[in-house]
Amino acid sequence: MLKKRILVISSANIDFVQRMRRVPYSGETVVEPGIGYSYVPGGKGANSAITFARLGADCVFACKLGKDSNGKRLAAMYAKEGIDTRYILEDPEVPTGLASILVEENGKNRIIVYPGANMTITPEDVEEPFICCPDALYMQLEVPFDTVVEAVRRANDAGIPVFIDAGPASVDYDLKRLGRLEVFSPNESETRVYTGIAPTTEENCLRAAIKLSSMVDAKYIVLKLGDRGAFLYDGREYYIVPAEEVPVVDTTAAGDVFTAALTYWYLEKGNILSAMDFAGCAAGISISRPGASPSVPTLAEVMAYAKERREKKEAEKAGE
Ligand code: ATP
Ligand code: RIB
Repeated sequence: MLKKRILVISSANIDFVQRMRRVPYSGETVVEPGIGYSYVPGGKGANSAITFARLGADCVFACKLGKDSNGKRLAAMYAKEGIDTRYILEDPEVPTGLASILVEENGKNRIIVYPGANMTITPEDVEEPFICCPDALYMQLEVPFDTVVEAVRRANDAGIPVFIDAGPASVDYDLKRLGRLEVFSPNESETRVYTGIAPTTEENCLRAAIKLSSMVDAKYIVLKLGDRGAFLYDGREYYIVPAEEVPVVDTTAAGDVFTAALTYWYLEKGNILSAMDFAGCAAGISISRPGASPSVPTLAEVMAYAKERREKKEAEKAGE
């Protein structure tokens, strides 16, 4: 069977990651000699593109890099992952995006993004990538909103499904301008920005999802709730899929992996609930490893994890 071709038009960053026992207070200097730092591939779009590639999709990644050493390193790395890089653009004037990431011992992070070339992707730039005849369009909002609107318009014209990971959020985005979507998926803080409702309880998740449904034309609203799992609303009913019980090493990119894995499985199987479960397994593996893109699992790893979990549950049931 032919692999699904997924067009990702989104961001690419180099992540400068420092691990520490705790982040410094304002004005404080903390010296952490033993823990170290690294430069790893990141960016919401690239993390998702790598997820698609490692899961086995035919991923076409359209992004914009600076004409610099970071850009060259990233492009080479995407090609090595088996990603189709023919629509990657270079901006000679603006550097490749960079994220400074502080990861605490509990796996939680703080991220500051310098968007660089990601912010120079224009609506005109998205015309060419559609020549590849994708089966689906996948985007996040780490590139200009007008560009996202134009890409969704083209995908709607082509009759292919659109999946949007709704971060990072801004109150300035007029979500109504986005066309028809299959899935719209914000995390907790993004949900609060868009709706004014903190999805802290089941009732608040439902209120927020209903409000989002009135703001975007999406078949499914999927709220990502960190260690509380994820919440699905299909316009009539809602479902909660609990988070996996895994050791938390670094949650960076959990959301990128979750939404991409959900998209992959949904396109493969056509079942959104099963896709939520698959996505939770993929994200769970990702947070049990350090780094953004380096933490992304392969399809074999997700399947092995799901099998082990099923066998454990069956053994527990038999022992009851
Ligand atoms: P990030 O910005 O770090 O990429 P996010 O804020 O967009 O992530 P989250 O809601 O934190 O997204 O995480 C996405 C999914 O990852 C969750 O829906 C859940 O399935 C899984 N996940 C996140 N944190 C945990 C955790 N501590 N334990 C188990 N699963 C988790
Ligand atoms: O979602 C995680 C990503 O957000 C990081 O890789 C960082 O580059 C920022 O874009």
